[in-house]
Amino acid sequence: MNRYKIAVIPGDGTGPEVIAEGVKVLEAAASKYGFGLDMTWYDYGGERYLRTGEVLPEGAAEELKQYKAIYLGAIGHPDVRPGILEKGILLALRFALDQYINLRPVVLYPGVDTPLKDKGPEDIDFVVVRENTEGLYAGAGGILKEGTADEVAVQESINTRKGVERCIRYAFEYCRRRNKKKTLTLCGKTNVLTYAFGLWERTFHEVAKEYPDIKTEYAHVDATCMWMVKNPEWFDVIVTDNMFGDIITDLGAMIQGGMGIAAGGNINPEGVSMFEPIGGSAPKYTGKNVINPMAAICAGQMMLDHLGETEAAKAVEDAVKRAVSKDLKSLSAGKMGYSTTEVGDLVAGYVRG
Ligand code: IPM
Ligand code: MN
Repeated sequence: MNRYKIAVIPGDGTGPEVIAEGVKVLEAAASKYGFGLDMTWYDYGGERYLRTGEVLPEGAAEELKQYKAIYLGAIGHPDVRPGILEKGILLALRFALDQYINLRPVVLYPGVDTPLKDKGPEDIDFVVVRENTEGLYAGAGGILKEGTADEVAVQESINTRKGVERCIRYAFEYCRRRNKKKTLTLCGKTNVLTYAFGLWERTFHEVAKEYPDIKTEYAHVDATCMWMVKNPEWFDVIVTDNMFGDIITDLGAMIQGGMGIAAGGNINPEGVSMFEPIGGSAPKYTGKNVINPMAAICAGQMMLDHLGETEAAKAVEDAVKRAVSKDLKSLSAGKMGYSTTEVGDLVAGYVRG
């Protein structure tokens, strides 16, 4: 029997609640499909920071490298200034573990409401491949004369040939494996950010030569937002930089039914990857047993797929589809017609069959 060592970081706010339901479903899948999950829990997050003054302990990233995957809830605490935990934990792990891909499927399941009029599941089914270690997130820049009338703030986008190329290459490979429309769209801003997206565009066309079976498209980021709303069916796989990917995947989450269902993977194809619901810690719902754990469950499903447990992953996806189309009244917190734990029970029950 295959056994996988998994690090679990429930994190802040509703993170622990949704991760508990995700774990419930993962355990159900493991016993049904005959593999084992050895989970080790880590208390990284806002509470720990407030208690100890430490975001990540010395050697945390090194320690996490021994796992097959990381299952993360949410990072962000109302009593901690924005940026400290995000940069100190989430971004620190993405960078230290070189998780250079942020993979975000945008899929509308049958029976789920989308704010897009006249669009259905056949129209909303694409994947965003977001670069995850460079761009504006690299932290290059600084502040001079802070708080004075002469203050200068510089924040630079770092784009390396290596970083851009490995991301684009991953996107082509992913598009080929996905085998749907076989169309990869580069999302950029070549009309203004001529240096950064000049590099992206040149690299894109060079790498494209190795993938003659994949059709290539280009869209500026603003137009991408427009098309995501107007004609989402045009997209198959989108590849983009870190900042644009961050923005368009929140839009993507909304058209697929909201933060209650949107999941993503921070992928290092050669290392340890980390799977998370993309919705954040939702402090106002914390401890109320009302938050929707579906996004965490979907992150677990992506993790199973990544581990090679494709049958189990498919079973979780089918269970989620069944629950959202037949049972849940809404995907919004407090409006599901079920509590957080009941949703976990429901999906785990469907997985068990
Ligand atoms: C996300 C989040 C993070 C990001 C924040 C919390 C740092 O918005 O995963 O999309 O910007 O990457
Ligand atoms: Mn985001």
